Amino acid sequence: MQDKIKNINTLEELQVLYTETYGKNGTMTARLKEMKNLDNDARAALNTENAALRELFKTRQTEIENAVLMAGLQKQRLDTSLNPEPENRGTLHPLTQSLSEISEILESFGYKRYTGPEIEDDWHNFTALNTPMHHPARDMQDSFFLENGKVLRTQTSAIQIRAMESDGVPIKMFGIGSTYRKEWDATHGPMFGQIEGLYIDKNITMSSLLADIRAFLSRFFGLEDVELRIRPSYFPFTDPSIEVDMKWKNDKWLELMGAGMVHPNVLRNCGINPDEYQGFAFGFGWDRLAMLKYNLPDLRDLYNNDVRWLKSAGF
Ligand code: PHE
Repeated sequence: MQDKIKNINTLEELQVLYTETYGKNGTMTARLKEMKNLDNDARAALNTENAALRELFKTRQTEIENAVLMAGLQKQRLDTSLNPEPENRGTLHPLTQSLSEISEILESFGYKRYTGPEIEDDWHNFTALNTPMHHPARDMQDSFFLENGKVLRTQTSAIQIRAMESDGVPIKMFGIGSTYRKEWDATHGPMFGQIEGLYIDKNITMSSLLADIRAFLSRFFGLEDVELRIRPSYFPFTDPSIEVDMKWKNDKWLELMGAGMVHPNVLRNCGINPDEYQGFAFGFGWDRLAMLKYNLPDLRDLYNNDVRWLKSAGF
């Protein structure tokens, strides 16, 4: 019997033998029924034999189940010597890549990320930013005005107003999002991405601004140091206002961002006392930064969603 069980290799055959042994008319069943006619020694011997036989069936069942499982796994083994089908892998768009890099860097400097609506009201896009009625930025030539008097946000500076209104000071934030102007050439599109940084506290100076800009640019472009040129400029919402240029690889100066110390009127408009608090703001187009980093000739390519172009540009 023992050998018989050991030679069985399928669960079905084992089941047949089990039924023959322990089924209603099974051999062992019959012997167990006669147990009452046996003397004590023979009874004990039958009990031992019965227990051993059951154990044997159980063990063989487990063995067969394991063998079946192993055979299945063997069949599923991958043949890694086969050439794979060419795979069409997606990547993150260069704009998305640079956007998350920029956010990561600014967040590591302690700037908190804010967003705001792209359809803005006059207050947040212009008036609170100390932009008087006659300012050219309000010109119909530059801004997309809607019939309801609202405007497609022309600058992420609107987000700094919202942030100061909602969270007060001290504040260290950056706003990020799309902005819209009536422009169209190789370095300007009607929609572009802007980032705005703002840091207001009690002892913030122009050199804090320059330190952060320098650290940011060297991290973003992966350069040990960056050479900056500061030019005086004009923005209604900063005073003094500057334009920051960076020396690029070919020794050319590139105009990168506008910045300055936040104008006292802007702080007052947000309910902040300018005698107590001051700080800086800076703003730049992050698609222009991506263009430089990835060496792209035309900014508008970034918005065409042409996969062939993305592939040929190495993305
Ligand atoms: N909002 C300005 C622009 O769109 C950039 C800027 C932001 C300048 C913050 C100074 C401070 O050109």
